[in-house]
Amino acid sequence: MSAHLDLEESEPDVATDGVWLTCIECGEQFAPFAEIRYTCDHCDGLLEVRYADLPTWEDFGGASTPESGPYGVWRYSAALPFEEGVSLPEGGTPLHYVPRLEEETGVNTLRVKHEGMNPTGSFKDRGMTVGVRVAREVGVDRLACASTGNTSAALAAYGARAGMETLVLLPAGKVAAGKVAQASLHGARILEVDGNFDSCLDIVQDLAARGEAYLLNSLNPFRLEGQKTIGLEIMERFHADEGRYPDRIVLPVGNAGNTAALYKCFRELRKVGAIDDDEVPKLTGVQAENSAPMVEAIEEGNDEVRRWENVETRATAIRIGNPVNAPKALPGIRETGGTAVAVSDEEITDAQRSLAEEGVGVEPASAASIAGLRKLRETGEIEADEDVVCLTTGHLLKDPDAAYEAGGEPEPVPNDTEAVLDHLGE
Ligand code: F0G
Repeated sequence: MSAHLDLEESEPDVATDGVWLTCIECGEQFAPFAEIRYTCDHCDGLLEVRYADLPTWEDFGGASTPESGPYGVWRYSAALPFEEGVSLPEGGTPLHYVPRLEEETGVNTLRVKHEGMNPTGSFKDRGMTVGVRVAREVGVDRLACASTGNTSAALAAYGARAGMETLVLLPAGKVAAGKVAQASLHGARILEVDGNFDSCLDIVQDLAARGEAYLLNSLNPFRLEGQKTIGLEIMERFHADEGRYPDRIVLPVGNAGNTAALYKCFRELRKVGAIDDDEVPKLTGVQAENSAPMVEAIEEGNDEVRRWENVETRATAIRIGNPVNAPKALPGIRETGGTAVAVSDEEITDAQRSLAEEGVGVEPASAASIAGLRKLRETGEIEADEDVVCLTTGHLLKDPDAAYEAGGEPEPVPNDTEAVLDHLGE
């Protein structure tokens, strides 16, 4: 089945340099930088960034190499609201071959887009390079986010780079050690909330509404513009290597920001004719089974996602019960002919080990993509002739405790070569 994307669009009457914001629910338009808003003034719907001129492949300036000018996110500035951002720099991540996993899962091609190779070790950097640039444009001095960890690490680093104050709200005791360490050393003020991620997001939205800080969660539509470049990189690289586009992209889902960003990427490519309907990859979301409201909505065919109050998983990055980008992401999964699937913590850890055996070190949430691929191969929903890209969103070092648990035990030996040889011979 080929995708059928909704490409309807209205003409702008409020554009600034060809950029404006549109409410995805009621279509109301807003000038992008004149006032700070995160959702629609009229209906509170999610906002999306729109452009008068969308680019096609030629507009990105030829071969993508570190030597050929801007590399990574800003190579795609023709598809972004600015020419450059607050950059460390970010993007340009590897699209690994994983031959053993490819053979085991029995798909035609399997590649792994490793977003853990970004400056702070997760894809969040792509959103922050744009988001913090917008913060400068609208003239704020304090940035804030709620986070399961990675967003806070990225915001802290990009805020520091821009010389801005940052405030991060984290669910107490539920954030992996590497991420808190990053936020702390980059100088963010860290507030540990006695609640889960969803309650942190409620509070930070209240703070933003009262003008206390500029919100840089993925509710902020500019974040998703940066994250859209994951899709551009996958499509361009895969096509350069294989001569075709991938059939499917499998990704872990928390707030569903990446799912929404990839869907937007494909719609924009479709709109300018850079790809056809039958070249749109099927968006396939994976959640942990005790944090799976999106999977529930897809399986039950619901238009809205029910908020899960009690969520739990070892993949703390995606321990989220209220995916705020669901209204953007659900149509993306449906229109591309994709699906969503839940996996257990054990399946996630197994997948983390399998990736590590190929030399690809990821945090648990990232491995959910491989665990989801395995499950959908078992059920036959992903077919043997498919070209699949799995997205791994964060680096192994983000969650050292999970890595220790999944890995082998160190073996104590005496301080003596003969004794070491004896030990090895045992
Ligand atoms: N993978 C990792 C490693 C993440 O950190 C996140 C989200 C996701 C996947 C889910 O991405 O929200 O776009 O569906 N982490 C956020 C944070 C919530 O605060 O770091 P999504």
